[in-house]
Amino acid sequence: MTIPVITIDGPGGVGKGTVCLRLAQHLGWHTLDSGAMYRVLALAAQQHSVRLDDEKALVNLAVDLKVNFEPLADLSGTRIILEGQDVSLVLRAESSGAAASKIAALPAVREALLGRQRAFRQAPGLVADGRDMGTVVFSDALLKVFLTATVEERANRRYKQLKEKGIDAKLDDLVAEIADRDKRDMKRSVAPLQPAPDALLIDTTIISVDKVMARILSVLELRNL
Ligand code: C5P
Repeated sequence: MTIPVITIDGPGGVGKGTVCLRLAQHLGWHTLDSGAMYRVLALAAQQHSVRLDDEKALVNLAVDLKVNFEPLADLSGTRIILEGQDVSLVLRAESSGAAASKIAALPAVREALLGRQRAFRQAPGLVADGRDMGTVVFSDALLKVFLTATVEERANRRYKQLKEKGIDAKLDDLVAEIADRDKRDMKRSVAPLQPAPDALLIDTTIISVDKVMARILSVLELRNL
């Protein structure tokens, strides 16, 4: 039997991570934060003095990358260990997202990470969040969700999240950075950010995470999943 996957795609700051975790907790499934994989590779590149446009060197780095994703005991998130160091917090900075988005536009880099992402598909099931989970990586997913929200609202949420984590940020800068990243992610030639044709679209600008969850669970129920 194939192991079931639910994909949660959408732009940065839309709430994918929260919805992915909540859904996985509810179903007792595993999670994949695919954005973290791009973020961690970009960080490793910086640490190994590899340029973010050096596709060949990035692929070599991706192949040998010693990274572990360790679910926290209370399942509230994942600790990310890069070459023995806990990098979970530094990966959340917007600069890390921007670096990730640069390397994510390179086709060979995406290809190199594909196998690592698919390896997360383990019983009893997987909830995967990212940009191309439903369109490319798990195109056979049993449910595909695509979340949207205005740039301003997403910047606001990011701002609050970063503040809570003690990371310094300016709201105006976040709006500009998020818009910039959206543009790069939507315009790239491989796996651009776009909903799968069969995705369930949910605009989260004015609805709470609870309502998003209720919507997804009701669709799962309607489809007898
Ligand atoms: O979701 P997150 O903000 O962590 O993603 C960081 C960047 O990684 C995105 O802006 C995008 O360029 C890239 N990414 C991707 N495909 C994914 C997940 C993330 O290209 N499945």
